[in-house]
Amino acid sequence: MIMPTDTILILDFGSQYSHLIARRIRENLVYSEIVPYDISPEEIGEWQAEFLIKGLILSGGPNSVFDSDAPKISSEMLGLNIPVLGLCYGHQLVAYVTGGSVKPAKKREFGQAYATIKKPVGVLKGLKGREKVWMSHSDTVFSLSTEYEALASTENCPVAAFRHKERAIYGLQWHPEVVHTENGDKMLRNFVFEVCKSEPNWTMDDFLLKAKAEIPEVVGSGKVIVALSGGIDSSTATAIASEAVGKRLTAVFVDHGFMREEEPEFVEATFQRLDMNFIAVDARKRFLRRLKGVINPEQKRMIIGEEFIRVFEGEARKVGAEYLLQGTIYPDRVESGLSKPSEKIKTHHNVAGLPADMEFKAVVEPLRDLYKDEVRKVAQKLDLPMKIAERQPFPGPGLAVRIVGEVTARKLDIVKKADKIVTDEIEKTSLKNRLWQYFAILTDTRSTGVKGDSRAYGYIIVIRCVESQEAMTASFSRIPYQILEKISSRITNEIPEVTRVVYDITHKPPATIEWE
Ligand code: XMP
Repeated sequence: MIMPTDTILILDFGSQYSHLIARRIRENLVYSEIVPYDISPEEIGEWQAEFLIKGLILSGGPNSVFDSDAPKISSEMLGLNIPVLGLCYGHQLVAYVTGGSVKPAKKREFGQAYATIKKPVGVLKGLKGREKVWMSHSDTVFSLSTEYEALASTENCPVAAFRHKERAIYGLQWHPEVVHTENGDKMLRNFVFEVCKSEPNWTMDDFLLKAKAEIPEVVGSGKVIVALSGGIDSSTATAIASEAVGKRLTAVFVDHGFMREEEPEFVEATFQRLDMNFIAVDARKRFLRRLKGVINPEQKRMIIGEEFIRVFEGEARKVGAEYLLQGTIYPDRVESGLSKPSEKIKTHHNVAGLPADMEFKAVVEPLRDLYKDEVRKVAQKLDLPMKIAERQPFPGPGLAVRIVGEVTARKLDIVKKADKIVTDEIEKTSLKNRLWQYFAILTDTRSTGVKGDSRAYGYIIVIRCVESQEAMTASFSRIPYQILEKISSRITNEIPEVTRVVYDITHKPPATIEWE
């Protein structure tokens, strides 16, 4: 029997750090998931059916408790007998709703600060008298109701940490999840293990066991079809499903024509060798036809998503499959707006792109709770070829969202060549290990140049190289100029249609990693 997993729920009040909190906890082998801030006690009860909810973390957020529309928490949530830790806005909120005094501060405190720890207990157990912490707040807790006591202060913040005198309710004004809080990890571990008494029982082996058991529970003796793109997510989902249901699984690889150079051949060669039902569908003309004249990025994504499903439905009918399996991962789910209050950022083709009249009985998503690096760990456990486990992420709609404006066969040819040059040059260096993604984008803008002895008017190619942990945030990489120079001169020399190459120096946020 598979035991329920100890879980810490993060109630998301709109913090940009919610994912960071979840990841820090998971790194300690305790499962963590982000839920909307207004989750009800009844909904927590529903979670309890499958997970052992050991603690609740109230995240930070952009609001002030005094805003008329500020997200609040009901006092019932503090009385559930589940330990609570409020961080930043969460800290102010707990103090405020329990009768403490919270005031708008005279001065906004931002950046490094030193906390004086008066009582090193509970979340602060084992900490020194003075701790380097990272703050970002305006409202400040000045005093607490009599049931609570202050545990730490900073120069501008009389109650920088507190606890309930009898129950496991804590607040920290600072952010333990960011690396700038020197002992932040210790604080989170104190909460997870000392206060919540969680067991570090969330490992990739447990995950695999659970994922494999879950698939037959959903599909019974039915046949399953999987959308296999050859990327790390769908390949891992396919390998799990293949172990779970064997030959009742058919993997369908749709070549929509938006893959990188040599990619369709690689995917076909890899999966045809494995012991599974594998079908490759050449749908290049069909996709290009549907995208004719389309320039709106969201529309492109919706069309590609729908067309994907139509192709699958056709194949599923042929093999008699009633279930669709997908490699959707956790950030796809969150970024598609399936978890309030995170805003919808982009429509990931494999989630919100599903047509309403879909013919499948159910969609199975075994990786839906994992971050990308966790998927990589699972891929390694499954002995997937290294080339797949190490591949950089690639969007489902492929190069179609790396061509700004209308997608045409000619533009696809240009961006494929440019992408190959970027990949070749980066992979010659050790930069490959540092970069999360490296690729080319074809803009819809032309620019004047000189090629040979004459004036040329050609396309602008953008190079994007980013470093990231899980794609929720990313930084452009400061890669050496010599490498950029090599890439630039190769692109302008080898691709006649391109006259200019630029480097994207925007972090995520405010940009996204992909251009569309
Ligand atoms: P953005 O552009 O949102 O990308 O910062 C975050 C990560 O997701 C990848 N990406 C996608 N993956 N289907 C996918 O499977 C999609 O529609 C999609 N769009 C973006 C992107 O490459 C990056 O790693």
